[in-house]
Amino acid sequence: MKKVLVAYESVKGHTEKMANYIAEGSRMAGNEVDVKHIRELKKEGDIQGYDAYFFGSPTYHRDMTNTVKTFLFLADKANLKGKIAGAFGSYTHSGDAPKLILDTMAHVFHMKATDLSSLNLLEDKIATDEGMKACQQYGRAVTE
Ligand SMILES: Cc1cc2nc3c(=O)[nH]c(=O)nc-3n(C[C@H](O)[C@H](O)[C@H](O)COP(=O)(O)O)c2cc1C
Repeated sequence: MKKVLVAYESVKGHTEKMANYIAEGSRMAGNEVDVKHIRELKKEGDIQGYDAYFFGSPTYHRDMTNTVKTFLFLADKANLKGKIAGAFGSYTHSGDAPKLILDTMAHVFHMKATDLSSLNLLEDKIATDEGMKACQQYGRAVTE
């Protein structure tokens, strides 16, 4: 059993839904999962102590949000080297944020990003059965 943190930002609630589905999927694989809005994570100690991390951000203006950028500076201090990494987010047309986040997790934090890459889901898909399953499967596969 792994300890997993799903930390997300969401302005309109779509990425938050993804976070909860990803957590469900990872729990189905037998893991213990915390889901937190990144605003709840105020110091590096709040981030440390997990085996695997999913960081989520919607794409706004072809980027992750500023809150997520600030959060990543905090995550840098937490020393997550060697931990399992996944990234996700909701989007409508370009969906840049999850890839940018996973790049930082892999190349700056030296975390273990799986071959599964990041999960970028079209906003309209998230409320569908297919969208829910895609998130659950991602949560399960990254942490299995
Ligand atoms: C002002 C604004 C800018 C946006 N810019 C982008 C963008 O550059 N690329 C993209 O794919 N989606 C863009 N979107 C769409 C959001 O990513 C989409 O609505 C997403 O589902 C929001 O996620 P959230 O509900 O978790 O905040 C934009 C939306 C708004 C309101």
